[in-house]
Amino acid sequence: MAEDQAVGFICIVILVFIVVYRWNLSPLNNIPTVGSSWVPGLSYLSAIALIRHLKEILQDGYTKYYGSAFKIPLMDRWMVIVSGPKMIEDIRRRPEYELSFTQAVESLLQYKYNVGSKIRDDPYHLAIVKEKLQNRMLADIIPDMIDEVSPAVQRYIPANGKEWVNMDVSSSAFKLVTRTCGRVFAGSPMCNNEEYIDLSVQFALEMLKAGRALRMFPDLLKPIAAVFINKAVKRTSNLTMLRLRPIIRKRIAATMREKEKDRFYRPNDALQWIIDKAVTRHETDIDITERLLLLNLAASYTSSSSLMQVLYHLAEWPELLAPLREEIEGAIAAEGWTMPSFARMWKLDSILRESQRCNGFTLASLVRIALKDVVLDNGMLIPKGTLLGAPAHPMHYDNAHFPNAHVFDPFRFARMREAACDTESAARHQFASTSPEYLPFGHGQLACPGRHFASNQLKAVLSHIILNYDLKLPEPECGTPQRPPNEYLSLAILPPTGGTILVRKRAAPA
Ligand code: HEM
Repeated sequence: MAEDQAVGFICIVILVFIVVYRWNLSPLNNIPTVGSSWVPGLSYLSAIALIRHLKEILQDGYTKYYGSAFKIPLMDRWMVIVSGPKMIEDIRRRPEYELSFTQAVESLLQYKYNVGSKIRDDPYHLAIVKEKLQNRMLADIIPDMIDEVSPAVQRYIPANGKEWVNMDVSSSAFKLVTRTCGRVFAGSPMCNNEEYIDLSVQFALEMLKAGRALRMFPDLLKPIAAVFINKAVKRTSNLTMLRLRPIIRKRIAATMREKEKDRFYRPNDALQWIIDKAVTRHETDIDITERLLLLNLAASYTSSSSLMQVLYHLAEWPELLAPLREEIEGAIAAEGWTMPSFARMWKLDSILRESQRCNGFTLASLVRIALKDVVLDNGMLIPKGTLLGAPAHPMHYDNAHFPNAHVFDPFRFARMREAACDTESAARHQFASTSPEYLPFGHGQLACPGRHFASNQLKAVLSHIILNYDLKLPEPECGTPQRPPNEYLSLAILPPTGGTILVRKRAAPA
């Protein structure tokens, strides 16, 4: 018995020795650590303890190591954070086979365990979005989205009469975005099917939750943990598939007939774009459904978060409504409810950009995973498997990039556009424009392909709300009303959960 214990003890010592020895050899060891002990086991404990404090840790690392790199502990691995224009440019221009965005998303959302392997191995739905949502293609689809805005706003903004009523910001924003995106994703009438909207929102939230939970397990245990953790995701995608199945079947049949030269009115929506590719690959209804739900996740989580943030800002500063109304009324009078009209709304665009700068939905951007050992331009060796990113939040709060960066200045970018000497420089301050200092949509080749769509969608929804409703924050028991603070969970910036604002139908609606 005593002998067994001794053998066990020696095995543990050898194991610890191997781990520490290997860690000492790792090139990551040469990169300074912020907010944690560098020791492997202790870094895991730090990651748990720091899960709600990465904002401060990133700021600390950014201040100490600007222009270079540092590492922070996440639950399942170290993340290397690089800063300064040279390093950001280096990351941005690296090809996917060196630093992969797709694999980084896979590792954050744990696709392998939460959706079918076909989707992970052949993510053609992403290529579709890149092609179909390009700025020059939007004129074909934005009118459909605009069609959906007025009924959606009336449905999900609870105010009808002159009384102020409470609005659950998160629930309304998710549904407004999912329904208006839904028109371009699943088409009409599915986009206004309440069950479909609820399931799509649920899927997005469950995927994020399951990804977060699975990342806490070592790779070896993930297949077992997934059986319990991915139940909700699987159930939701199956239920959505059952709702979509009649439409998918009908469209597949029509697509096949069309191939035999029959006539078929081809809907211009993501479901059809996916089906066109899926039929040649003999994919199942669940594959098609999961691809659609994943597109909705990419679009709805980010855009809903932007919408929530702006609604909170408008409710905190209702005096912003008057200049915005003047601008929106002018634009609509000139161009109607159209894309050119949204392009004229510089003040609204500016609030969206400023809110994204101050809030955003993630502390780090340009997130990539090294698919092989990579030597960066400054000679730093990044070993295969390392997660990398840029410190978006500290950069957005850096006075060197944005004067008075700690002040929320709603019309900051509208003023910059007005002061610009030519159209090209003015365009750099638009909501959807990216730069090495402004990273909410990433930057470079892989910058978000849906950002121009999101810009039009958010302006369509917000301009409707601003013209037709008054907004304010609930009165606190003492002091002046203040919007509830954001929450921080690992790298995610979450608008306040369960927060409410007060809304009332405007006395003289447009
Ligand atoms: C305010 C709203 C949005 C924000 C803040 C946002 C942000 C981002 C960011 C930060 C990235 C990663 C870029 C990089 O690391 O270089 C990204 C990628 C992506 N976004 Fe968005 N996004 C938004 C809306 C949308 C919409 C409406 C869609 C439409 C489907 C969309 C589809 C995608 C896709 C498909 C990718 C992956 C691109 C790839 O694989 O290269 N996003 N987005």
